[in-house]
Amino acid sequence: MKKIGFIGLGNMGMPMSENLLDSGFDVYGLDVNHEAETRFEKRGGQIGRSMEDLAKFCDLIITSLPSSEAYESVYLGDEGLIRNSHANSLLLDTSTVAPESNEKIAQAAKQRSIQFLQAPVSGGVVGAVNRTLTFMAGGPKETFNAVYPIMNVLGENIFHIDERIKSGTLTKLINNLFIGFYTAAVSEAVALADKQNMDLDALFDVLSVSYGQSRIYERNYKTFIANDDYEPGFTLKLLRKDMNFVKEIIEREDMHLPVTDVLMHIYEEAEEAGLGAKDMSVLYEHIGEQEISFQSKKERVK
Ligand SMILES: NC(=O)c1ccc[n+]([C@@H]2O[C@H](COP(=O)([O-])OP(=O)(O)OC[C@H]3O[C@@H](n4cnc5c(N)ncnc54)[C@H](O)[C@@H]3O)[C@@H](O)[C@H]2O)c1
Repeated sequence: MKKIGFIGLGNMGMPMSENLLDSGFDVYGLDVNHEAETRFEKRGGQIGRSMEDLAKFCDLIITSLPSSEAYESVYLGDEGLIRNSHANSLLLDTSTVAPESNEKIAQAAKQRSIQFLQAPVSGGVVGAVNRTLTFMAGGPKETFNAVYPIMNVLGENIFHIDERIKSGTLTKLINNLFIGFYTAAVSEAVALADKQNMDLDALFDVLSVSYGQSRIYERNYKTFIANDDYEPGFTLKLLRKDMNFVKEIIEREDMHLPVTDVLMHIYEEAEEAGLGAKDMSVLYEHIGEQEISFQSKKERVK
């Protein structure tokens, strides 16, 4: 497997495709954002081929896309991967998209006897850069085995969940529901500590060896909050996308999950406040600002 197409050269796709280049593969990048393509070319990647061309020409195509709409258009469009791939093609999607979309693509791939694996990833941009990603794959074990060597170049924990194409996505959405909880918890708890004039670095050190510790506390505090820098990372908008998929599942199952309901509302508000393109840890700032506006309202009432 030498020729690999990579579609979606964003925060995750760019470092993953660069790691493939560094491991000696011929990588053909494609992105609707030409700046991203130019950066990829400067890094040694090949660009300039259409999607149809990539589908006909590559042994494996990997996608890393920001929405179900982009995913369905890349796979199901006239110029897309399903229509144009050859019989020995392998298609690997690493995006987090709606489970129903996974099933739609798998069905279309099956009709053309194309091997398709849905393997969302976790570990963030740091994991993509350092090749420490976790892959959660759903789909045929045979396809998993065929793509395993490549996932193993890009990550270090590679799981086959089960044969259902959406099983990796379901695993990932549960993971991201936890991330939604933890991010909100870190934001509120650290805002409270700040209000008490506590030394936030010292607090982090103590809690890191206590039950208040979490990987999201470490990520959100150390990389973003402590540096007052919210360049993504994982955007609040993408987290909200995943929380919306979770919401759809909850509604379908007719479940009542009250804390999740509140979370959905909090992230919606933060995105409406214009924070969607920042890292999700920016929720900390948003909570701080809301606190200030609540205070000034109280002042006005006095
Ligand atoms: N950022 C993270 O920490 C992280 C972690 C795990 C999983 N994910 C998931 O990985 C996926 C990508 O995330 P990201 O953070 O890299 O997003 P991103 O927005 O940074 O990158 C997506 C890229 O896809 C490109 N794109 C959009 N539509 C396209 C199309 N039709 N054809 C070709 N290119 C197209 C965009 O221009 C962009 O460069 C998402 O599904 C996200 O939920 C992200």
